[in-house]
Amino acid sequence: MTAIAFIAGSIRHGRRSRLVADWAAGVSAEERTGLHCEVVDLADAGLPAADGPRLGPYGGEYTQRWSETVSRFDGFVFVTPEAGHAVTGALGTALDLLYAEWNDKAAGLISYGLHGRTGATETLRATLAGLRVETVQPQVGLSLLTDFQIESPAHPGTVTPARLQRLALLAMLDEVIATARALGPVRAVRMAAAA
Ligand SMILES: Cc1cc2nc3c(=O)[nH]c(=O)nc-3n(C[C@H](O)[C@H](O)[C@H](O)COP(=O)(O)O)c2cc1C
Repeated sequence: MTAIAFIAGSIRHGRRSRLVADWAAGVSAEERTGLHCEVVDLADAGLPAADGPRLGPYGGEYTQRWSETVSRFDGFVFVTPEAGHAVTGALGTALDLLYAEWNDKAAGLISYGLHGRTGATETLRATLAGLRVETVQPQVGLSLLTDFQIESPAHPGTVTPARLQRLALLAMLDEVIATARALGPVRAVRMAAAA
């Protein structure tokens, strides 16, 4: 079983990241076998920015729990809004708090926004490289104008991606699975060396 976390990377009331993470995890579990797909919602993680960055051991209960959560996965799909070419503070904190738990794992990126959709993922790729996370090249960019049904800006609406977005998601996912599996032996060697 390859364990993939779909990380909902925004935490404001009425956010859309959870809708997108649920969609991506649902499609992935439906279309591929040998996967454990789990949505990890940063809104539930309660992560304190003041705890990091640290290499552990972690003083705070929430950070310790976050370490255990991230350690359980072989790969990640990060779901981030595009806003001002940056990821949310919540996602930045979630990444900052840990190091070894991220190392030698694979990641795919999904962004969504009004128009841009690649600014946040470009900065996210650089951050993940620093954490020794291998990001795959295919990515998914959802448009608020065509991949969601939104009645007013204040309402999260529903996520209704075009058929090609589903294919883009699966192309990305297949790369994440292959990379995560290939990195398994690398992690084992590093862990043995550190023991
Ligand atoms: C202050 C602000 C800046 C934004 N900047 C961008 C942007 O640069 N490009 C874009 O495509 N969408 C932009 N958006 C739209 C957001 O991506 C959209 O509101 C998204 O739903 C926010 O994520 P959330 O719902 O998960 O909180 C911006 C929205 C806000 C409120």
